[in-house]
Amino acid sequence: MKQNPHYSGNYNNLVIRNITEKDIPHIVNLQRASFADMAAYGMIWPKSFLKSHIRIFPEGQFCVEIDQRIVGSASSLMVSLETDYMDHTWYDVTGNGLFLNHDYNADSLYCADISTHPEFQRKGIGTALYNARKSLATKLNLRRIIAGGRLYNYCKYSHMMSAEEYAEKVVKKKIIDPVLTFQLKNGFRFIKLLNEYLYDVRSLNYASFIEWLNPNYIHH
Ligand SMILES: CC(C)(COP(=O)(O)OP(=O)(O)OC[C@H]1O[C@@H](n2cnc3c(N)ncnc32)[C@H](O)[C@@H]1OP(=O)(O)O)[C@@H](O)C(=O)NCCC(=O)NCCS
Repeated sequence: MKQNPHYSGNYNNLVIRNITEKDIPHIVNLQRASFADMAAYGMIWPKSFLKSHIRIFPEGQFCVEIDQRIVGSASSLMVSLETDYMDHTWYDVTGNGLFLNHDYNADSLYCADISTHPEFQRKGIGTALYNARKSLATKLNLRRIIAGGRLYNYCKYSHMMSAEEYAEKVVKKKIIDPVLTFQLKNGFRFIKLLNEYLYDVRSLNYASFIEWLNPNYIHH
């Protein structure tokens, strides 16, 4: 079978495509496994939210399938921030998770989440999802892709250093963080920390504001 242009790993039966309504129960199961800590306190997409994303911005909702099993997903919307690097929370920027604030005239693709099933991590699936997002940003001629990435392992270091110091050490490759290291590896730049971004016991609610500038963007 033809290899997907967004994927450079070893699976030759991998498909990246937009999510449809029939996928929703499988995406919920995926999230229970890949966001186990957040699922424990009810913070994964309910079915109705995923349905809302598909209705509002179908091209922005991606999943990865291997042998008809969904093993990764990424949800996005389009937004324009009032200023390029303004502080925001996950709740504000995603319309409380429903994407009702999605704007087809906006200049930025906003990554609301990304996850790979734990059994399939470190095989290039998250990278393939980001590549699909980069292609979409190019197709829609968006200026950039932005996100608030949860500072995943800060909970292990918070007794030793501030969140700023932690992020700085990850950027300098002195500490590896499963999420921020992954995002930097994918060509994103760390901009600054966002406080009280999302209720999350792992990051202590800190997120890293990250940005990828679209090299193909044409300013009209
Ligand atoms: C973050 C996440 C999506 C990465 O997905 P993935 O499919 O494992 O990522 P990839 O295989 O494409 O990783 C690409 C590179 O990123 C880096 N990376 C990814 N996961 C890493 C980890 N746990 N530790 C260190 N580096 C990591 C590596 O450099 C990796 O390349 P390598 O494996 O050749 O060394 C996945 O770990 C995940 O689902 N985490 C839980 C959910 C979550 O918190 N999501 C993010 C917030 S919304």
